[in-house]
Amino acid sequence: MLAVKNLHVYYGLIEAVKGIDFTIQTGSIVSLIGSNGAGKSSTLNAILNAVKRTGEINFLGFETSRHSTHTLVKNGISLVPEGRRIFANLSVEENLKIGAFNNSENYAHLKTQMYKLFPRLASKKKNLAAMLSGGEAQMLAISRALMNEPKLLMLDEPSLGLAPKIAMEVFDIITRLKEQGITILLVEQNAYAALKISDYTYVLENGLITMQGSSEELIHNNEIRKKYLGM
Ligand SMILES: Nc1ncnc2c1ncn2[C@@H]1O[C@H](COP(=O)(O)OP(=O)(O)OP(=O)(O)O)[C@@H](O)[C@H]1O
Ligand SMILES: [Mg+2]
Repeated sequence: MLAVKNLHVYYGLIEAVKGIDFTIQTGSIVSLIGSNGAGKSSTLNAILNAVKRTGEINFLGFETSRHSTHTLVKNGISLVPEGRRIFANLSVEENLKIGAFNNSENYAHLKTQMYKLFPRLASKKKNLAAMLSGGEAQMLAISRALMNEPKLLMLDEPSLGLAPKIAMEVFDIITRLKEQGITILLVEQNAYAALKISDYTYVLENGLITMQGSSEELIHNNEIRKKYLGM
């Protein structure tokens, strides 16, 4: 579904991503783990051409570099951004409506689906998003992204700041989305959970991929266990 070759991301003179290659197979969950400042968010933003980047990014057979973020979203890439970025002064339902702005013909149907997937949002649909708990806000951010009916769903630190039980719910939902056929690129600080639910994992350090492998294999890797799993 996605093939990234020699990706560099720049913020002025700062090179945040220094030439990375990775691929995502259709139907899989790929996770990207790494410490603070490693370049994880920059990589996700680069896939949507939302930051200055060089290299090749091929999505479903077309090179994305000449396309706007808007076009890429329209073609099936959704991002659940770090920090959720829901529209706090709009209602839950209005947030969903914005998520469907490329897809308004399916809005009513998708909205019903989201309320089935996240019953807690249904009971709060008229409430301001600002009033939601952290977990509910994350569910809203995910459903807003799903309103675009993405082929590739990218999630940036979806468990950040959530109580362990709620974080588990979020990881469950991600697994269910994969079962529904959505391909997933997951950035997570909770390396253990990421390795548990993903098929393949890349480790990013200082803008470079330093390790990669099937998640099952990496979860038993000594270096990973020491550095990222605190074992
Ligand atoms: N807008 C920006 N301007 C300048 N430097 C930036 C900007 N955004 C990120 N950086 C720098 O780029 C590097 C990579 O940042 P990035 O946010 O991609 O890392 P990350 O792996 O997502 O980290 P975190 O785990 O903290 O979210 C860091 O050194 C960061 O300081
Ligand atoms: Mg980040």
